[in-house]
Amino acid sequence: MINKKLVSSFILISSAALPILSIAAEDIVLSAPNLHIRTLAASCAACHGSNGNALAGNAVLAGMDKNHFITQMLAFKNGDKPATVMHRHAKGLQVNEINQLAEYFSAQKPILAISPKAQKLQADHD
Ligand code: HEC
Repeated sequence: MINKKLVSSFILISSAALPILSIAAEDIVLSAPNLHIRTLAASCAACHGSNGNALAGNAVLAGMDKNHFITQMLAFKNGDKPATVMHRHAKGLQVNEINQLAEYFSAQKPILAISPKAQKLQADHD
């Protein structure tokens, strides 16, 4: 048997809490105005590393000169620069997003990436 008092308290509490939650979500978005750009930048991380610090030979975007970044991205977007994958990424971005990504990556600190050494497998495990 469901306790009626408990159910009505739950409804009362959740209807009071919902508007508070939606205000909180707006606050979070407003306090992170570059959330959209950081989300776009996260899509670059698979190849260019966290915050643009790439491992294993891909271009390091962290600390990259803004003009160089924009020139390369526009050349990929226009098809002027041959690419294996970047023309696809660049075509999906608007020019103002490219400009903001240039700001974002130029502001990131390049760090010397050290790749972990490959582990040696042991023949037996005592
Ligand atoms: C799937 C892997 C991959 C992803 C994801 C990726 N890139 Fe690239 N990026 C490359 C490769 C590979 C190149 C070299 C050009 C080519 O072959 O496409 C490159 C080149 C670049 C260059 C030119 C660097 C230079 O100095 O010549 C820039 C700038 C760049 N990427 C920015 C980005 C941004 C911004 C994103 C995210 C929106 C991104 N990349 C996502 C693989 C990737």
